[in-house]
Amino acid sequence: DQSKPVEPEGKAAAAQKVKIGVYFATWWALNVVFNIYNKKVLNAFPYPWLTSTLSLACGSLMMLVSWTTRIAEAPKTDLDFWKALFPVAVAHTIGHVAATVSMSKVAVSFTHIIKSGEPAFSVLVSRFLLGESFPVPVYLSLLPIIGGCALAAVTELNFNMTGFMGAMISNLAFVFRNIFSKKGMKGKSVSGMNYYACLSMLSLLILTPFAIAVEGPKMWAAGWQTAISQIGPQFVWWVAAQSVFYHLYNQVSYMSLDEISPLTFSIGNTMKRISVIVSSIIIFHTPVQPINALGAAIAVAGTFIYSQAKQ
Ligand code: 3PG
Repeated sequence: DQSKPVEPEGKAAAAQKVKIGVYFATWWALNVVFNIYNKKVLNAFPYPWLTSTLSLACGSLMMLVSWTTRIAEAPKTDLDFWKALFPVAVAHTIGHVAATVSMSKVAVSFTHIIKSGEPAFSVLVSRFLLGESFPVPVYLSLLPIIGGCALAAVTELNFNMTGFMGAMISNLAFVFRNIFSKKGMKGKSVSGMNYYACLSMLSLLILTPFAIAVEGPKMWAAGWQTAISQIGPQFVWWVAAQSVFYHLYNQVSYMSLDEISPLTFSIGNTMKRISVIVSSIIIFHTPVQPINALGAAIAVAGTFIYSQAKQ
């Protein structure tokens, strides 16, 4: 009966779906812009520890300004909150730096192909460290994910071990970050947006001394001068864009994580990688061989099979 009014619950569920859809689309679009500017910056200025620090610093500053001007309401936090946030921040810092180091060494598309294997890491961590077990189809779905990533890696024209390991470490770190985050956000009055803001600030504190130790102001000053002389003053805008978009896409992703399960989150994240892989190959004219693209396609398809098996 078409004239039947939509049930209020049906309406609420439909509105929720639209909201998540808008979050996802915004998250992916912001992420594509971040990845492009991040790589443009890294090509001219290969100091991933500094660019990672700047993106966290920029997000922290944006949120502090939003809180003081009351654009956003500051969260009420206590010591327990920050203690629980600490392991999340450690995982976020490691995952962020490792991905950025990876992208400084290899094509953006390659980093994201390897990062599409994140669900496999999630299953392995849950199985071996948390003792969770899954139905057989879930384990079987790992075969195309791992096989596809492996095929893409061995046929990658510009393979680099640091680039590969960075993406792998990032996968592992982000699995922990997502598990701890969802636990930390549960039953707390802090919204997804503010939770991510606090996470940025704590990660910034953790990362800064390491960035200084690994790279340091001397290298940064010399590299900065070279970049400005090669690119011109707009290089500063590239750095600003990668920092602002890094914060924005993560903020939106956390606003989604607030409303969905970690599983749906990681599926959304893998779908996001398709847009990043395709757009970065076009923009940076990344050479791709058919066998290499096949590996990437198998890995991404494996993630969809995994999501079906997990449901
Ligand atoms: C980073 O720098 O943190 C990574 O580029 C982000 O990886 P993600 O695509 O998993 O958010």
